[in-house]
Amino acid sequence: MDKKIIVALDGYSSSGKSTMARELARRTGYVYVDSGAMYRAVTLYALRHGLVTQDDAIRIPELIEALPSIDISFAPAGADGVQHTLLNGEDVEREIRDMRVSNLVSPVAVIPEVRARLTQLQKDFGKERGIVMDGRDIGTTVFPDAELKVFVGASAEERARRRYKELLDKGEKVSFEEVYANVVERDRIDSTREVSPLRKADDAIELDNGDMTPEQQMEWLLERFRERTEQSNTPAR
Ligand code: DC
Repeated sequence: MDKKIIVALDGYSSSGKSTMARELARRTGYVYVDSGAMYRAVTLYALRHGLVTQDDAIRIPELIEALPSIDISFAPAGADGVQHTLLNGEDVEREIRDMRVSNLVSPVAVIPEVRARLTQLQKDFGKERGIVMDGRDIGTTVFPDAELKVFVGASAEERARRRYKELLDKGEKVSFEEVYANVVERDRIDSTREVSPLRKADDAIELDNGDMTPEQQMEWLLERFRERTEQSNTPAR
């Protein structure tokens, strides 16, 4: 039996990393965890429980106090092939992708206590290895010992185009300018925050997928996966 590894995919928002991570997990039989969905679920919880003020400030002490009562899990992929995020047992997969949540998730993700709680949950998911996780700090903070780390990059404009198309396909009424502004603002907050800012781990492989088709990206990733699995199955001499 092959030894299972941990795959960490990090990068900016809408870089296509989730699609790659999900597909890699499907093909290898590994567990897939979308860590961004977990930050989104905490944000949704805050919105629903009056922990966001009228001018969009997060009530930080109250949110920190509520953390022990926020449970996040994932339901295995159903007929749509997509794994759904559960917030205290309720399927919130659709709601956590709204613009309202997208606009508030970065300020929630800068709160050190939120990060500590979610990082712990994420480490627990990876206890048995055999996991593909995507996010911002997976290769640096959550699994510094991951056998395969990939940092996915693409320009803000390209990523906004992808996100805009996704939202239109879902029937959301948004303008490209709004989506672009959201992508740029999240990039700024994610890479300048104090705790676990988005940055490439020293031992991560960089992939600029701007000009690659999804198939080419998958081929590239599967090749890296095979290499790393073989390496971790070869006893060190
Ligand atoms: O990947 P995404 O766009 O769904 O992520 C939503 C937000 O969560 C993003 O603004 C940054 C934050 N995030 C984070 O801080 N750390 C992670 N590991 C994953 C996401």
